Amino acid sequence: MVAAYAGAVDIEKYPIHELDSRRGRDLVSWCRAQLAEDGCCTLGGFLLPAAIDEMVRISGELDGKAWVTDRPHNIYFTPPAQDVPPDDPRAHLERSAKHGIAYDYIPATAPVRRLYESPELTRFVAAALGKDVLYRSADPLDAFQITRFYPGEELGWHFDNSEFSVTIMYQMPEAGGEFEYVPALRSDADSNYAGIEEVLQGRARASVKLQESAPGTFALFHGHHALHRVTMVRGSRPRINSVLTYGDRPGMKLSPLTSELFYGRVS
Ligand SMILES: [Fe+2]
Repeated sequence: MVAAYAGAVDIEKYPIHELDSRRGRDLVSWCRAQLAEDGCCTLGGFLLPAAIDEMVRISGELDGKAWVTDRPHNIYFTPPAQDVPPDDPRAHLERSAKHGIAYDYIPATAPVRRLYESPELTRFVAAALGKDVLYRSADPLDAFQITRFYPGEELGWHFDNSEFSVTIMYQMPEAGGEFEYVPALRSDADSNYAGIEEVLQGRARASVKLQESAPGTFALFHGHHALHRVTMVRGSRPRINSVLTYGDRPGMKLSPLTSELFYGRVS
């Protein structure tokens, strides 16, 4: 039943393979409560140590295949506004720099690729997010990938275009590389440019939260209304994690433009 990801997930602690059991229902309820509280749910120790080690090893072997991006952007991923003061969030520029390893380079035997491709994980993610059904991305490069942030690399403040994200952490650097977020900083009804500017200018540190990021942590995150970033990596070893991509509809893929940007090619 769980052969596809046996040995990868601590299913004693997180019974994603039996969501209809009492313990499975409790797990889903707990995830939903965490998401309702501040838009973030982390499951520490989700991956077993051997699977973490294997993903770190595989990502190191694929390092030469990584596509490097380093670019400025505003927090909305829109063209920066010209007709507002320079400190306005719509004009403010951030920097994102990372190494991305595409799905098609990751071996089919990689423990977290097997986990991603299992129907049990897709069902669990849907249940935790309160959805009837979800579909894995159909993108051959982006559906499941590995990101390596080297020293000096970072992910600038931004809001996600997508409703939620799913990540699994493999390795943290010696310093930096923290996932910071400010829950519910905007809503569909309120753009809250003034509140956002406070965060961007570093004047609202008390409202900034840190996502749990120990190796093996599984995280669900509502990033559409929460401003978030990964701080600059320091030290000598990279920060390594995976993003697992899902959609409400089957067959979802990156646009050719986005695929070129993230992976340097179109599938
Ligand atoms: Fe994001």
